[in-house]
Amino acid sequence: MCGIVGYVGREEAAPILLDGLARLEYRGYDSAGVAIFDGTKLQVAKTKGRLRALSDMIQGGAAIHGTIGVGHTRWATHGAPSDVNSHPQVSRSGRIAVVHNGIIENYAELKEFLVGQGVGFASETDTEVVAQLIEYFYEGDILKAVGRVLHRIEGAYALGIICADEPERLIAVRKDSPLILGLGDGFSFLASDVTAIIKHTRDVIYMEDGEIAELTREGVKCYNHLLQPVSKETSHVDWEIDAAEKGGYEHFMLKEIMEQPEALRRAIFPRVKDGQVVLEDFTLDDDYVAAIRKIFIVACGSSYHVGMVGKYNLEKLLRIPVEVTLASEFRYMEPIVDEHTLVIVISQSGETLDTMAALREAKALGAKILSIVNVVGSSIARESDVVLYTWAGPEIAVATTKAYSTQLAVIDLLGLYLAKKRGSADDERILTAVRELLMLPSKLEQVLEKQEDIQYFASQYFNHDSIFFIGRNVDYALGLEGSLKLKEISYIHSEAYASGELKHGTISLIEDGTLVVALATYEKLFDKAMSNVVEVRSRGADVLALTTEGREEAMAKNANAIITIPDTDELLLPSLGVAPLQLLAYYIALMRGCDIDKPRNLAKSVTVE
Ligand code: M6R
Repeated sequence: MCGIVGYVGREEAAPILLDGLARLEYRGYDSAGVAIFDGTKLQVAKTKGRLRALSDMIQGGAAIHGTIGVGHTRWATHGAPSDVNSHPQVSRSGRIAVVHNGIIENYAELKEFLVGQGVGFASETDTEVVAQLIEYFYEGDILKAVGRVLHRIEGAYALGIICADEPERLIAVRKDSPLILGLGDGFSFLASDVTAIIKHTRDVIYMEDGEIAELTREGVKCYNHLLQPVSKETSHVDWEIDAAEKGGYEHFMLKEIMEQPEALRRAIFPRVKDGQVVLEDFTLDDDYVAAIRKIFIVACGSSYHVGMVGKYNLEKLLRIPVEVTLASEFRYMEPIVDEHTLVIVISQSGETLDTMAALREAKALGAKILSIVNVVGSSIARESDVVLYTWAGPEIAVATTKAYSTQLAVIDLLGLYLAKKRGSADDERILTAVRELLMLPSKLEQVLEKQEDIQYFASQYFNHDSIFFIGRNVDYALGLEGSLKLKEISYIHSEAYASGELKHGTISLIEDGTLVVALATYEKLFDKAMSNVVEVRSRGADVLALTTEGREEAMAKNANAIITIPDTDELLLPSLGVAPLQLLAYYIALMRGCDIDKPRNLAKSVTVE
């Protein structure tokens, strides 16, 4: 949600900023802009709409010359998407430009103060207040002026600031919104995430909350909120630029679906030694593990769906209560959490605001926090007691696929690891599951080979108005993810239902030709799943069933079409079952001409409540 990139160096800044913004497009935005010092003054170009419009406006960057600047893709919060509300926002003299991710909560009161001082405002944004306030305090040192402003603004923000009077410095500020610094020979960057700058450097500094940084061609200096210098570690990003490019695929989503076997290998293989799960990053001691009385899983969206599978699997393995809750609900529900509660926080981005707030709430109540996160150095990772990274690599498509799969693998690894430590599952049970975990990537490859069959099914169903997903237990959890994938990228109305609940209401919606995707991978409940297929078929539904190899004949008696996955340990069925559902959503969206990687109204990282 919103993207920031800033550059100071020896090259022309405009094309570098446009390229960086293009790499942040996936985060979601509705307008874009840049501010560049041209040797005399700040040149600001910004517009509502896609980045292409901004690029055309400044001839791909050729229309503005200068070697220092900031750029932004905005997701509107305060003030509608419009040219004037786009960032950069500038102070009234035009000397100071600010790009901002997040929300300034006390902007109205600050605006009133500034208006009282005779300051006029051009936009409706909270960001303009920051630009005007910096100018109000400016006495020849932009760093000091920003330092004073930080004591007055409240909320969540990442800021990039440029001042025409000091055209060799960029200022970066971070509080509750991600911002990284990139280091190079003769240049420095600031950016919302690594993808924006990986082309130029892999040496980065992760800013902490409350920190301010000063960037010049010579390097970066970091300060705390009192402007005292702080020393920072430089991290080396070990993935290549190709990981953030389409590599011949039409969409990032398809590329990321196909990358899942490899991502699973990275997530699983280093964590298995001699048939046992070894979690080297798990730093909680055995006494703590033995004393865990309850587990809470907290997450949003697809990460929450991983939590649903996690609940079933962890309860089977650990025999302790596992509650799975949407982060946005957890925050306000007075959860029963104490020092014997392990809270598992799941987040691809590691920046989701609701999940972050839930983490803090749980921590304050005494729980230990274990997070399952993809983005290294993200806020959630940094505030957790234990982080298990998913190692899925950069995920660019808004609809998550490989992050979901690796989250599932990691929660299963965790379950098996804790079961061993607590002695809640016997060795044979653990060994069997671990053996299957190691086979998961190659079994997933077999599923992905059915791409063309699924494309065919998509061609049969892409014009349906409404599609239902039904299943029980882990198949229900899988249905939630299949349904979300479909609706977020194809805009088809869809619902996932626990099959047993159909007759309590939803079955009234089934009529001739309604498509029901029946999930029947869980052997123990196969007969029940079959009864539900009969139930909806007799009311006119078309049924596309997903089951394991060997059961297709039985299923063929009732379903119209069948997709199979290889059989595996019951804990791992959703890890295989999700791939056909991802492909189905992908091809349906493709046939409907949707903007698959950047679905309307959605952002990759949701950093507002
Ligand atoms: O980064 P997170 O895992 O915390 O994000 C949570 C959700 O916003 C995310 O899973 C969302 O539902 C995806 N668009 C689903 O594809």
